[in-house]
Amino acid sequence: MKKFSVVIAGGGSTFTPGIVMMLLDNQDRFPLRTLKLYDNDEERQKTLGDALAILLREQAPEIDFSYTTDPEAAFSDVDFCMAHIRVGKYAMREKDEKVPLRHGVFGQETCGPGGIAYGMRSITGMLEIIDYMEKYSPECWMLNYSNPAAIVAEACRVLRPDSKILNICDMPVGTLRRMSQIVGKTPAELEVRYFGLNHFGWWTSVKDQSGHEYIDQIRDYVAENGYLTQVEVDTQHTDPSWQETHRKAKDLLAVAPDYLPNTYLKYYLYPDYVLDHMMEHPEYTRSNEVMENREKHVFDHAKKITAQGSAEGIAFEIDAHASFIVDLARAIAFNTHERMVMIVENNGAIANFPDDAMVEVPCIVGNDGPEALTQGIIPQFQQALMFQQVTVEKLVVEAYAENSYQKMWQALTLSKTVPSAQVAKELLDDLISENGDYWPELH
Ligand code: NAD
Ligand code: G6P
Ligand code: MN
Repeated sequence: MKKFSVVIAGGGSTFTPGIVMMLLDNQDRFPLRTLKLYDNDEERQKTLGDALAILLREQAPEIDFSYTTDPEAAFSDVDFCMAHIRVGKYAMREKDEKVPLRHGVFGQETCGPGGIAYGMRSITGMLEIIDYMEKYSPECWMLNYSNPAAIVAEACRVLRPDSKILNICDMPVGTLRRMSQIVGKTPAELEVRYFGLNHFGWWTSVKDQSGHEYIDQIRDYVAENGYLTQVEVDTQHTDPSWQETHRKAKDLLAVAPDYLPNTYLKYYLYPDYVLDHMMEHPEYTRSNEVMENREKHVFDHAKKITAQGSAEGIAFEIDAHASFIVDLARAIAFNTHERMVMIVENNGAIANFPDDAMVEVPCIVGNDGPEALTQGIIPQFQQALMFQQVTVEKLVVEAYAENSYQKMWQALTLSKTVPSAQVAKELLDDLISENGDYWPELH
């Protein structure tokens, strides 16, 4: 089988070790000749890179492993770039979550004003790595899951329309795993129909290969329990705040019971609930939870491996849930025609939605990229919510491209999460000052 050269951009990410372990676990399906880590933070990269170098020497010496902060070294001779960067790192995620609270609006990584602020930072970082990729390896594909994926995908559509970049989110995969447990199947046995935007969608069908439809059974379960399952199926979303999110899906379903909701809709359908909840501990948000747990755990663990000079008995955990990234790489590399929910330009997939909207729908992925499957006409309730949200995302990208304060103010004003133009303006001025040089100058 052909062997591939991969660079992970955001090599200092909390997810990098789990993804490297997952890649090692998938060598029979997606063999590597070269694996490189690239980050623009030398210290983070070195801490994880040193530990992973030891681990790879022990477990996969045949793979040429290296880490670097030099774009040319990172992006030369690569077939795939797996991208998970966070421009501004956890210090800025904390601000995304806490600045809006000062204005009576919840703060979240990808939704509402926090997501908008993060989007403005991410576009610059994404364009930078796309340009490196195209300069040093023009044939390379980028598999991107850097957030906020909706805004990033729209920015790529507008600003790098010809780039080989695939945008994907793990939430549809993660929730399908929960659904599969609810009905006693494996995720591979189930096929879905789904429509929406990233972090803003609904499942309309969940069938097995024989054509049996499970949506009623899952609906009955979710109406009682949300997506909370008996046995924990998803190693990524287990912290208390995530359990609460899975449970809340029950109330999302109640609003529009025909379809099964993406958990992220809680930020748009129940923003007051989210705010009240956050205001119980405004100084301690999800970023604090991650910094104290996942980030600390991963970096401490790396230091332990390096100090010991061996990963024997203390290897990182395999991030098995991330194997959909290998499915995606294989779909491109081996033309597998895998069916995957991805973020793509609509072009008629959702019949009553603009062609140029970046939507999340099932696609067949082959060596030319994804082909979206048509999802037909969607109901007016979902259509209206999506139209409002997609316009926010488009305005953010226009604000970025045109350095437009006015469009950014409109984006925040239009967000369902912000109560008025006045609050939007005060929030915008605060976000501008807190984001400093991470944002383009707006005037
Ligand atoms: P993290 O802060 O631990 O890691 C991000 C890394 O990116 C940092 O080491 C940082 O130095 C690096 N970075 C920032 N700007 C860069 C640039 N311009 N070039 C190169 N490297 C750069 O964050 P994390 O919690 O591990 O998450 C990483 C990313 O993955 C985030 O964007 C997160 O939202 C995303 N994510 C997406 C999904 C999804 O479903 N789409 C799932 C999980 C995580
Ligand atoms: C889900 C979403 C991602 C998001 C992540 C946050 O996986 O699909 O887009 O980045 O959750 O998880 P965290 O553990 O960092 O809060
Ligand atoms: Mn996501």
